Amino acid sequence: MAVWLLMGPPGVGKGTAAALVCARAGCRHVSTGDLLRAAVKARTPLGLEAEQVMGRGELVSDDLMFALLEDEWRQRGDVLLDGFPRTRGQAERLETRLGTGDSGIRGAIGLEAPEAVIRARLEGRRVCRNCGATFHIRFRPPSRGGVCDRCGGVLEQRPDDRPEAVRRRLEVFAEQRAVLEPYYRQRGLYHAVEATGEPDSIAARILAVLGKPWE
Ligand code: AP5
Repeated sequence: MAVWLLMGPPGVGKGTAAALVCARAGCRHVSTGDLLRAAVKARTPLGLEAEQVMGRGELVSDDLMFALLEDEWRQRGDVLLDGFPRTRGQAERLETRLGTGDSGIRGAIGLEAPEAVIRARLEGRRVCRNCGATFHIRFRPPSRGGVCDRCGGVLEQRPDDRPEAVRRRLEVFAEQRAVLEPYYRQRGLYHAVEATGEPDSIAARILAVLGKPWE
């Protein structure tokens, strides 16, 4: 199993790009944010523990994250891991767990965009309360206002897209980037990817790093 890491600020478009990349490259998109939100929705003990922390825009504990990811390593197929690691502790533990190279961590992709672009993407994001599908009021509007195209569920703003939580998430990301970018650069694994423009163009840039054609 080869694992590519997808990193970048909140709202830069990691989830959107990862879905497009995996549809073409045949990898599995594993988002730690999605895993946490599913645990919150299911009211599992892990989800209940994570809910308050996420609402404040803080990071969930490393132990909880590794417990949540353990099932993923038992499955087959290459993985695009979105939103993990976020601390040096997570990065070191992940490297110990998976190693690097063809059957471990292959590389870390850092999506980059100006803050104004990120804020516009976050402010307009709406997610389906039922199935979690993501829309944007300007850039990816649903066919009927406030209604999910996929399942007909109600669209709402994510609790952590409120301005106070966004401010904190951007601060947390700045701290994370200062640690993780040098960590993966030193290992020759870091690839910066421009995340402005259309989702398809961003996905094509990521596929080029993965060595896969955009067909
Ligand atoms: P997570 O869900 O991973 O949040 P995040 O990293 O803040 O990223 P987002 O999901 O907000 O954004 P995204 O980059 O995926 O953007 P999207 O594609 O939706 O984590 C949430 C929380 O969980 C964390 O704060 C933390 O508490 C916890 N957590 C997660 N992982 C953890 C870990 N490893 N350790 C500890 N805690 C952890 O796009 C955003 C919007 O823009 C959408 O509306 C989309 O339609 C639109 N859009 C996307 N691309 C484009 C484009 N190219 N052009 C125009 N619009 C676009």
